[in-house]
Amino acid sequence: MADHHAPGFKDPAATWNRRFAEPGYLFGTAPNAWLREQAHRWSAGQRVLCVADGEGRNSVWLASQGLAVDAFDIAEEGVRKARALASQQGVAVNFAVADGGQLAWPEGVYDGVAAIFIQFADPAMRARLFQRIADCLKPGGVLVLQGYTPRQLDYRTGGPPLAAHLYTEALLREAFGAMDLLTLREYEADVSEGTGHHGRSALIGLVARRR
Ligand SMILES: C[S@@+](CC[C@H](N)C(=O)[O-])C[C@H]1O[C@@H](n2cnc3c(N)ncnc32)[C@H](O)[C@@H]1O
Repeated sequence: MADHHAPGFKDPAATWNRRFAEPGYLFGTAPNAWLREQAHRWSAGQRVLCVADGEGRNSVWLASQGLAVDAFDIAEEGVRKARALASQQGVAVNFAVADGGQLAWPEGVYDGVAAIFIQFADPAMRARLFQRIADCLKPGGVLVLQGYTPRQLDYRTGGPPLAAHLYTEALLREAFGAMDLLTLREYEADVSEGTGHHGRSALIGLVARRR
């Protein structure tokens, strides 16, 4: 099942609230595999921001690893379920309902940012969002980002059905050119993240450090 449909981009809060109002966790409760693989870049006690965190699977797992986690999402229904997941797992996450395009982003405060499947952003919004993400990191802070590549349009096992929202290596290399790229990898994998992301998928993962 694709997790976005073009009409949903007009009113993302309503669209995502509707999706998250369904029973269960749309993307499951386990963390994203790329995040899990790359989280060793951070150490316990460090401060990490989860961007567009949805129902909390990533923020809750990071908190369980001893990180101090802030997380936001535009969909209050997602944040409600994320709070429930945190309390069920006995961890604390500082959650907020917020639109990444409107948020007063702090600057230079985070040791890490997790940006997992934030491809709701069109190219103009993406440019602003990526800049805010880079700026909110401390020097030495590390971004872990995961998305789909245009090849995902053939698989249709998750992600927006809009080529302009997808990432290529060249796009990410340019967008984060002011940071040190530690890893940038296009790959395919069988993904099993709830019903929202399920099946053979064309993925891209980036890890970059602020200079
Ligand atoms: C594909 S889901 C990924 C959720 C989460 N990162 C994960 O990996 O489970 C995309 C998320 O972006 C959120 N979103 C969409 N537009 C947003 C915006 N302008 N600001 C903040 N969150 C937004 C949606 O509510 C949804 O939770």
